[in-house]
Amino acid sequence: LNRPTKAKTPELERSGRLRHVIFSGQFSVDLLEELAGVADAIRKLSKHRSGQDFLINLLHHKRAMLYFTQPSTRTFLSFMAACQILGITCNEVRDPQTSSETKGETRFDSIRMFSSYFDLIIMRSPIARLAESCAYLMNDLERSGNRSVPIVNAGSGADQHPTQALLDIYTLQRTFNFSGPNDSEHNSRFDDLRRLPGCENLSKGLAGKTYAFCGDIGRGRTVRSLALLLSNYPDVRLVFIAPNHPTLVMRDDLRQALAAKNVRFYEFDSFEQQLDGRPVIEALDALYMTRIQREHDTGDDAERYAALDFSRYCLDMDLVSRMKPYAPILHPFPRDQHFGEIPQEIDNDPRAMYFRQARNGMWIRSALLAHLFDVDGQILRYFHRE
Ligand code: CP
Repeated sequence: LNRPTKAKTPELERSGRLRHVIFSGQFSVDLLEELAGVADAIRKLSKHRSGQDFLINLLHHKRAMLYFTQPSTRTFLSFMAACQILGITCNEVRDPQTSSETKGETRFDSIRMFSSYFDLIIMRSPIARLAESCAYLMNDLERSGNRSVPIVNAGSGADQHPTQALLDIYTLQRTFNFSGPNDSEHNSRFDDLRRLPGCENLSKGLAGKTYAFCGDIGRGRTVRSLALLLSNYPDVRLVFIAPNHPTLVMRDDLRQALAAKNVRFYEFDSFEQQLDGRPVIEALDALYMTRIQREHDTGDDAERYAALDFSRYCLDMDLVSRMKPYAPILHPFPRDQHFGEIPQEIDNDPRAMYFRQARNGMWIRSALLAHLFDVDGQILRYFHRE
């Protein structure tokens, strides 16, 4: 993991557009705004039949392979739904036991086979950097005159989950970007709040805000990807709240990447530590909860965890009542019913954004596919002509 986050980024582009999607560092603020505009257009067009018909005919000649060898609900299904919205036919390999990898075939041979039959490979793997290596394999194939297709990283080990960061940012954009009462794309949950004293910061975009991440910071690939994206916005502050355990606190590569970008960041082990002279739970503009990823525990970790009080990293109604009235609560999901980082009783709070966040994944992933296949301009032209 100790590599610059923008490693070989130019090799992942073609003529100023993304060719492969591997790291969140590939997305500039301008591109994020562009994708949000396309996602908004797709969302609105999907509300009626003529818009749906237009979208579904855009890429009906394309085929995508969903190669997910690590469990997934949201990423898999929202990519599949995104493909369906744009007319892309999907196929899947989710269990390597059903593929010829059981006969000794390498993952790289599998990927090359997929590229023979499909126009895009969306892949999730427990192996960090596998998607990155597959992208470079595709580039090598292209250079030697062979067939090559885009690779999209849908989660790679504890490394990165760039398209999760896209939907996280899109959810924050929909909450914090507000151009006035006629802005039909904003998050209407907060309409009443926008007029209240103390909520002036709500409608002023993503810059200048304080974002907190809580939970398994060390192994959280969604945290890593989103923190790097947020660090592109001016004057943000990032707060990381994790149990004081070497496995769970921020890793050096992220610390170094944030320091190199001159981002103000703070590492706490409690919601009660002070920021701006008050407990951090009261000072933040958005809270990103995560679960402790116990599936990655080693025997040693489990032993050392015994001494930690994990309940300090779970929300409850009291903590939520102390948050700013507009501060959205996000979570990449799944949440862990045994750990209880977000109890169900919080789901009806207007700040609980995690189900909308998951649905936003379908729209922003549709926009990303439109970008990769260069039909985003067509969508915007059709949308604005209507
Ligand atoms: N957030 C996320 O990646 O969810 P899944 O593991 O269900 O895809």
